[in-house]
Amino acid sequence: MAVDASASQPAGPAPRSTSGGVSKGVVFQDVGLSFQGQPILRSLNLAIAPGEVVGFVGGSGVGKTSLLNLVAGLIDPSSGKVTVDGQAPADRMRETAAGFLFQQPTLLPWLKAIDYVALPLLVKRRPAALLNPFNRLTEREVSAARLALAKAQVPHVEHMRAAQLSGGMQTRVALARTIVAEPDMMLLDEPFNSLDERLRADIYAVLQAIIAERRATTLLVTHNVLEAVLLCDRVVLLARPKDNPERGAIAAFEQRIDLPRPRTLEHADDPPFVAAMKSVREALFAL
Ligand SMILES: Nc1ncnc2c1ncn2[C@@H]1O[C@H](COP(=O)(O)OP(=O)(O)OP(=O)(O)O)[C@@H](O)[C@H]1O
Ligand SMILES: [Mg+2]
Repeated sequence: MAVDASASQPAGPAPRSTSGGVSKGVVFQDVGLSFQGQPILRSLNLAIAPGEVVGFVGGSGVGKTSLLNLVAGLIDPSSGKVTVDGQAPADRMRETAAGFLFQQPTLLPWLKAIDYVALPLLVKRRPAALLNPFNRLTEREVSAARLALAKAQVPHVEHMRAAQLSGGMQTRVALARTIVAEPDMMLLDEPFNSLDERLRADIYAVLQAIIAERRATTLLVTHNVLEAVLLCDRVVLLARPKDNPERGAIAAFEQRIDLPRPRTLEHADDPPFVAAMKSVREALFAL
């Protein structure tokens, strides 16, 4: 139950699992990203193994959401290469069940929670469904959406629309939509900010169960160090160099979290847990 003491500068890309020459998992190879000539990310080399849960921490505006957007294929790198299971992310996303939980709740105001949660299933069955999301759900899709709502701890809101839901409820409905298609990859962007401590504890348990069940490769952006240590196998700090912030952020530090699972808030006082949090915090505050 020891925390790996080797917190360090991340190594270059080292895809750990290959099959037929294809690098499995998510690989960043010397990735640079600029917007309108302004460097955001630079020299990013990271290999995320299938089933690995990697947390990304770092200051506001450093490029965490952009990093998830690269993996989702929503944007392209300005230099270098991002691959998911050896493929371009946009191609891979067409084939795989990936769940993206956006930083801003993105509920569609005209849809009841159950219809919103089932949307990925509907779109899978009928790709044109996005144009007409009032298509009827099958019984199986309704059951899957109900199960996802229950797992996300909001079984009672299925007939409600976004305007009738609190911020925390909207987050949980969005989580239900993220997990309904049983994703093999999850991209979670500061998903739990609006939840109270008790709900967070429940959701952490739910999320760990889903990750264990699906062996879903998970990228979690968070500002919460405790959450990062509790949920992740590895925490990566994105930071701009102090002496030249204009050059864009690099993966400045990483900490492996080799603690047994499932982890709960009750473990947060255990010395190895405290040591892991301290190490990540120190790196953050050294910025
Ligand atoms: N599509 C875009 N066009 C132009 N600039 C962008 C775009 N997306 C992000 N940026 C800029 O890139 C930088 C990184 O943004 P990003 O959203 O990735 O930060 P973040 O680390 O997620 O921040 P936060 O913690 O506040 O969510 C910011 O300066 C932002 O203004
Ligand atoms: Mg962000």
